[in-house]
Amino acid sequence: MLDQAIWTASIPRVGLGCMGMSEFYGPVDDQESLRALRAAYEIGYRHFDTADMYGRGANERLLGRFVQELGGRRDELLLATKVGIRRDPDAPRQLQIDSSPAYLRAACDASLQRLGVERIDLLYVHRRTPEVPIEDTVGALLDLIKQGKIRAYGLSEVSATTLRHAHGVHPVSAVQSEYSLWTRDPEPEILPTCAELGIRFVAYSPLGRGFLAQKPEQTWSGEQDLRQHLPRFRKENVEGNQRLVAEMAQLSASLGLHVADLALSWVLHQRDFIQVIPGSQNVKHVASNFGAARLRLDETVVERLRHLFRPEAVSGERYPEHLLGTVNV
Ligand SMILES: NC(=O)c1ccc[n+]([C@@H]2O[C@H](COP(=O)([O-])OP(=O)(O)OC[C@H]3O[C@@H](n4cnc5c(N)ncnc54)[C@H](OP(=O)(O)O)[C@@H]3O)[C@@H](O)[C@H]2O)c1
Repeated sequence: MLDQAIWTASIPRVGLGCMGMSEFYGPVDDQESLRALRAAYEIGYRHFDTADMYGRGANERLLGRFVQELGGRRDELLLATKVGIRRDPDAPRQLQIDSSPAYLRAACDASLQRLGVERIDLLYVHRRTPEVPIEDTVGALLDLIKQGKIRAYGLSEVSATTLRHAHGVHPVSAVQSEYSLWTRDPEPEILPTCAELGIRFVAYSPLGRGFLAQKPEQTWSGEQDLRQHLPRFRKENVEGNQRLVAEMAQLSASLGLHVADLALSWVLHQRDFIQVIPGSQNVKHVASNFGAARLRLDETVVERLRHLFRPEAVSGERYPEHLLGTVNV
């Protein structure tokens, strides 16, 4: 069996989310993104997160260019991608979830080709089709491990029950779900299950897609920006949520920190097996986010933030109704 111990001491707790470099968060610029990727590597980032659906393959191709440049240093990286959400080429907003063995096999081959690597370090099932038994899905992933196409597998936005079943078939190396000050969904079941089974938890959108980092409204209000379609960014909810962030900003200023530092550090303080993957195309942000792993927050600060962003204080759901059904499956 190939080595599956992907979470070695050389993988820092802060990884780089690459999604926004190719789609969803406003204009993209490959040259700018390549600069951010190179800077990230120099700063010490080793965990890079993408998916086949980001930019419909463009994000994996971008990462492939970066990996190519690294040459032999590629082996220092933990290259993670995700498959399982199909997009209609004629209507890219139409998503179809497919965790069937046949689709995962074909999608993995396509990702390998776009990334230009012989093996993917961590392949996630991006979303799960409830009708496909998880045992079948994991069986297909295990075949990919045996064939040397992937080193390890992970699951994104699954329920604790699914996680247990999957882990019983073959050990899960990571669960990736949304987790941040304003999204606490993993706390009651997923984090305790990960703790019990010894599974790493990767927190995506740890900066609330930029909202918790006080990203100015004009940067996310473009019609093409995904955030326009998320309830928390809608007019009726923005004001209430901005009040929470403003209070956090006062607290961070009193500590001499940026709000983004505080938001990332808060997540890292919750459990020692949590990784964060903030997304950024901006070299300055990439650098400052990496420093969040070194911050030590006082317990009173951690608790104050926990209370400030208690779920009933946050306005709006994290996804629109039709997408909420695709998480916790
Ligand atoms: N598994 C899943 O279903 C799933 C879903 C969504 C995302 N993800 C993964 O998680 C990664 C991260 O999530 P995300 O990108 O959605 O959200 P995020 O990390 O919460 O926020 C990204 C936004 O924050 C801004 N930002 C980052 N650092 C900042 C700083 N220090 N100061 C001010 N603004 C800052 C970025 O803008 P700048 O570019 O200007 O820095 C960007 O607009 C993605 O890239 C993707 O790889 C996975």
